[in-house]
Amino acid sequence: MDYTFPVTRTKHPKARPQDENNLGFCNYFTDHMFMMDYDEGQGWHDGRVVPNEPIAIDPASCVLHYAQMMFEGMKAYLRPDGEIQIFRPDMNAKRMARTAERMVIPELPEEILIAGIKAVFKEDADWMPSAEGTSMYIRPFIFGNEISFSALPAKHYTFIILLAPTGAYYASNSGKLGTSRIYVQDTYIRAAKGGTGFAKVGGNYGGAMRASLEAKKYNCKDVLWLDAAEHKYVEEIGTSNAFFRIGDEVITAPLDSGTILPGITRDSVIQLLKKWGVKVSERKLSLDELVAAAKDGSLKEIFASGTAAVISPIGCLNVKGTDYPVADGEAGEIATRLYHDLYGIQTGTVEDYMGWTYPLGISVKK
Ligand code: COI
Repeated sequence: MDYTFPVTRTKHPKARPQDENNLGFCNYFTDHMFMMDYDEGQGWHDGRVVPNEPIAIDPASCVLHYAQMMFEGMKAYLRPDGEIQIFRPDMNAKRMARTAERMVIPELPEEILIAGIKAVFKEDADWMPSAEGTSMYIRPFIFGNEISFSALPAKHYTFIILLAPTGAYYASNSGKLGTSRIYVQDTYIRAAKGGTGFAKVGGNYGGAMRASLEAKKYNCKDVLWLDAAEHKYVEEIGTSNAFFRIGDEVITAPLDSGTILPGITRDSVIQLLKKWGVKVSERKLSLDELVAAAKDGSLKEIFASGTAAVISPIGCLNVKGTDYPVADGEAGEIATRLYHDLYGIQTGTVEDYMGWTYPLGISVKK
């Protein structure tokens, strides 16, 4: 189906970022956004591009009280030929469908997601950053928006897509792969079996903030979560999936418990490693095994993977106040190669040998 959406241009264009090499993570938002409504009996309707400005929301709107919401994280990249492309959007659409099902939110068809992204890019393409390490973060989100204090699924929903020119979440976007310190969290938990760990919902992150603050006390950027049942196995890092290279094996937590976010970057890392002939295992890894490997020198690398995090090497693991340096605090060999090929494929500087990119058909001259 061919979608055409009405556009209301902003009368108050925003100031552009002055320095593309210091964007930070989503500190700027573009001039426009995509909005669409859902009503029971009517389905998704009234897609439109409007100025990205504060919206009115009733203080009794159910999302503000019971958090029936979901979001996605995607990115667009500027190719050397000026074309804007996104990365594996079918995977985001599938994950959205699984999150929607868990949160009893109406499913949003993939074609609307893509059409909405294209529509807002048509207005704001010239916001696309081009400096090394940058991209346009795309944040689609849906929330129950109905005046109701009944703890029941809403009948009306709002869908919005925001665009934010950005650098990576952890490291600077100076082009160099920096490393971060990570704190093993053994008191609080992120997700239990049967909960919402596999879904992309705000509550997963709101509930994690106490633990992230604790990590800061140890001079760590974020936490490495342990499983909820036994506090024994490593699961994921605050905003991203986690990979551990012990000897010649690269290990990441399996998805079958339903407590791990099925990252699109995680899946891409696994596929790339398999293609390169690197042994990669989706298996349980206990903190004991990890610490033993750190002590005997077989722990070669740890890195985070995510849309926001891209590939972020971890230079030090802190367990109960004790530091375990990883790869002498430098970016490891596998993380560096992954970053090179993944970000290269995304930005079109490396040939897309996996068939993952999706050009929007919108170009911009920089
Ligand atoms: C993403 O990587 O896109 C996320 O949604 C994580 C978020 C906490 C920045």
